[in-house]
Amino acid sequence: MSKSDRLVGALAVALLLVIALPAQAREKNYHLGRKATAAEIAGWNIDVRPDGKGLPEGQGSVAQGGEIYDANCASCHGSFGESNEYLALTGIKAKLNHATTLFDYINRAMPFPHSKSLTADQVYAVAAYVLNLNDIVPSDFVANRQTLPKVKMPNANALKPYPGMMSVHGKPDVHNTACMKNCEKVVKITGSLPAGFTKNLYGDIRDNFRGLETMNEQAPPKADLPGSAVAGKTSAASAMPKVMTASGCTACHALDHKILGPSFRDVAKKYQGNPGASKHLIHKIRNGGAGVWGSIPMPPHPDLSDADLSTMVQWILTQKAKK
Ligand code: HEC
Ligand code: HEC
Repeated sequence: MSKSDRLVGALAVALLLVIALPAQAREKNYHLGRKATAAEIAGWNIDVRPDGKGLPEGQGSVAQGGEIYDANCASCHGSFGESNEYLALTGIKAKLNHATTLFDYINRAMPFPHSKSLTADQVYAVAAYVLNLNDIVPSDFVANRQTLPKVKMPNANALKPYPGMMSVHGKPDVHNTACMKNCEKVVKITGSLPAGFTKNLYGDIRDNFRGLETMNEQAPPKADLPGSAVAGKTSAASAMPKVMTASGCTACHALDHKILGPSFRDVAKKYQGNPGASKHLIHKIRNGGAGVWGSIPMPPHPDLSDADLSTMVQWILTQKAKK
């Protein structure tokens, strides 16, 4: 038995002990944490089930949804949900067997990257609008707790749970045996994408996963953790204005490498010596747009003040190319 095998064995025993101990004894032994408050639980407990359980109070019509959609969603999904730059919304017809799942998804994840910025009424409205775009509900549809669970999704009957993936009682969908000796020590990530579309859009997909290159190390360097100012080892990172991290710019931009948007060093290089650069970039960040770096659009940021925009652009334009 190697040293690391023994360690794994010891850990497994420790884990079993923790599981086997009654909750009271655990509390007594470890004094860890505290009970979550009702408000804290409510913040996480947002799942909406097929039968509508979990749907909040509120309502929204297709017409109201149209306005919300145009302001918050069209820049990425296209005016009619047709744009595949990010993901066309026409796919929900084939993918979802419950309209309540659409509410859940929009409510928890959209509008990217400002998820959870919409009220319950707004999510109801925009879900109604997306359903109407897909010809699933009429244009006078009003979504609420009662109506949404009753919507019949066109492909509902064709979707089946995959045994082994959706339930622990079915057959697993993989047939590997667990490796117990001479196992791979380093996990190598390889990826293949359909040549063409996706590759041209995103480049090497591995570049889009921050920290992937460090996954075989003990812990990623601090600067690579999500939410830090800039991924990568660079001293200029700390100087990025707070308003940029707070505004979500780093979800799509980094100082040194392309994520969805260009690296800030590349932006600085492109506009070096260009007297109209500040004006153009302030306008671009506020209003969004595509075409300068590729076909993926940057969403608009209409709420940023002139002062914040000029702080951002000043900072971006002074990032020097890497020596
Ligand atoms: C900045 C771009 C952006 C904006 C703005 C945005 N989305 Fe998305 N949306 C995405 C991306 C990217 C995905 C795919 C996410 C994934 O697959 O992990 C997505 C996925 C979705 C999906 C799932 C579609 C499917 O077939 O799986 C729905 C529904 C959706 N968005 C609705 C909305 C709505 C409604 C809004 C406005 C309130 C919105 N989105 C705003 C980028 C955006
Ligand atoms: C959802 C992803 C996303 C977010 C969030 C985002 N950007 Fe972008 N950004 C892009 C994309 C994509 C482009 C390329 C657009 C193009 O090709 O014209 C871009 C382009 C840019 C450019 C270059 C524009 C040009 O015309 O050359 C600047 C500067 C910029 N972004 C700054 C910012 C700032 C500052 C923020 C935060 C307030 C931000 N971005 C948030 C995706 C994003």
